[in-house]
Amino acid sequence: MRLERFASKEDLYARAVDIIVNAKNEGATTFGLATGGTMEPLYAEICETNIDFTNCISFNLDEYVGLSAKHEQSYAFYMYKHLFHHKPFEKSYLPNGIADNPTEEAARYESLLQQHSLDFQLLGIGQNGHIGFNEPGTSFDSLTHLVTLEESTRQANARFFDSIDEVPTQAFTMGIQSIMRAKSILLIAVGEDKRDVLERVLASKFTEEIPASILMKHPNVTILTDLQKGENVQ
Ligand code: PGA
Repeated sequence: MRLERFASKEDLYARAVDIIVNAKNEGATTFGLATGGTMEPLYAEICETNIDFTNCISFNLDEYVGLSAKHEQSYAFYMYKHLFHHKPFEKSYLPNGIADNPTEEAARYESLLQQHSLDFQLLGIGQNGHIGFNEPGTSFDSLTHLVTLEESTRQANARFFDSIDEVPTQAFTMGIQSIMRAKSILLIAVGEDKRDVLERVLASKFTEEIPASILMKHPNVTILTDLQKGENVQ
């Protein structure tokens, strides 16, 4: 695992763009993508570059159950707004939030993922250590599945909705095993509210109670953070 600390968010996001451009130049064609506040500045930076994804395929980590791609808070809408509108891929996959049969939809998405191995996976991290929507307690062996969101996750994401009542209670997420199959992984942890969880991940105690702790076992993970070494983060 490589950990890189940045004094400014500008430098951190510039480095993240470099890592993605380098991955593509080195032959990556299948990208796992993430959403959330952490990724917005990254996608804005990517849109300013001349990187061309039109021969690439993308898979998103997760999607809310019950929101169609036209809903402004769906991750399909987010991706179109922040990235795909400006930087289209040859093909972009997300779970279908309004699938009639969610169990079948999760299996369909996992099967697509297994047909296209991920060269690169982008990750944020939840304050509870989730990656994708794999909440604490999720099996490290999990494949794409349906999850019930933790109350803390719904509260953290309520800022994007008019009220917490509108935040969906369930989501589809790639499983932890699905994520770990990616050849390389870039995790971005920005802001004080990620300090505690980053410390717990770096402590390298593998536990399903901290889903991101599994990343310390991946052969090619980079973590970028703007948190400086301190009492808590070594
Ligand atoms: P955030 O979400 O980027 O909005 O903090 C990250 C996550 O929950 O994985």
